[in-house]
Amino acid sequence: MMKGLKKWRLFSLLAVITVFLSACSGEDYISTLKPAGEVGQDQFDLLIFSISIMTLVVVVVSFLYLYAFAKFRRSKLGEKHMPKQVEGSHTLEIIWAVIPIVLLLILSVPTILSTYKFADVKAMDEVDEEGNKTALTVNVTAKLYWWEFEYPEQGIVTAQELVVPTGERVYFNLKAADVKHSFWIPAVGGKMDNNVENVNKFWLEFGKESEGLKDGVFYGKCAELCGPSHALMDFKVKTVERAEFDAWVASMQATEGQTASVDSTDLGEATFAQSCLGCHAVSGVGSTGAMGPNLATFADRNRVAGILEHNKENLESWIANPEEYKPGNLMTGKYSELSPEEISAVADYIMSLSVEK
Ligand code: CUA
Repeated sequence: MMKGLKKWRLFSLLAVITVFLSACSGEDYISTLKPAGEVGQDQFDLLIFSISIMTLVVVVVSFLYLYAFAKFRRSKLGEKHMPKQVEGSHTLEIIWAVIPIVLLLILSVPTILSTYKFADVKAMDEVDEEGNKTALTVNVTAKLYWWEFEYPEQGIVTAQELVVPTGERVYFNLKAADVKHSFWIPAVGGKMDNNVENVNKFWLEFGKESEGLKDGVFYGKCAELCGPSHALMDFKVKTVERAEFDAWVASMQATEGQTASVDSTDLGEATFAQSCLGCHAVSGVGSTGAMGPNLATFADRNRVAGILEHNKENLESWIANPEEYKPGNLMTGKYSELSPEEISAVADYIMSLSVEK
């Protein structure tokens, strides 16, 4: 009976491990084990390197244990056998103190080199002959529970979906508007905290275009417990060739002055201007500091509210009752006075906001 129970326990443990390990096998849009870019690759290499050292230790120790186990059995050596006494042996003590120190030293060299490399943001301040910044910088502001991406040199701002060029270092200034969050694009690199009291800086390199991925985007997450909707504080990253990125910037800049009018004959636009425009801009030209996510590129995005499938029904449900989808968000209760007809019209209007079409 006991034996059967033990076996059953072992099998369930193995089953659980299998589930976890298969989840680790990785989708390339979100897995640290399928790195896309220099930082992600370096971090992955460090991971493999440290696991290799640990595996070596486990193998050697297991071998010594099994060797001793097999060789020094009482049945072989007899009840009277007394092993050699080695207590207080300086040689042995030095050996088992020095080996771990050496292993840690070996591990520390690439770790320290990488840490300095990832923190090197000197290129952020470099300028060409005309005084323009040579590297792309994005200011990321984390808010409860969404992300704002400002491109200060380009004079544009967007939310929830970061657009970046591939094959070059993109520099990030990270901060938070309310509580501590953490910026993480698992497949590309990270993570680093967004704090209220200081700006953290780092860089990432995006190794491939996101177009071929499952949803056409890399997944980004908040990696610091920030409130009831922490686990829902997602963003997406669209990576494109430099030329396509420049075209995107130009079409963002072309939305300058775009706004919604309360006098519009379109019920959606008029309602939006009345009830939403105070927090949500519809022009991509601007800077950081909005109350709500910028909606200039809403139709181009992959998700509603960062998490829901991108369709009008979900957008209507979100506007009508955001609390149901992201508990504790700051939009809850703001639109309870809108009629279903107005919500439907506003959803149509928001779904029409695009810079890519
Ligand atoms: Cu923001 Cu967790």
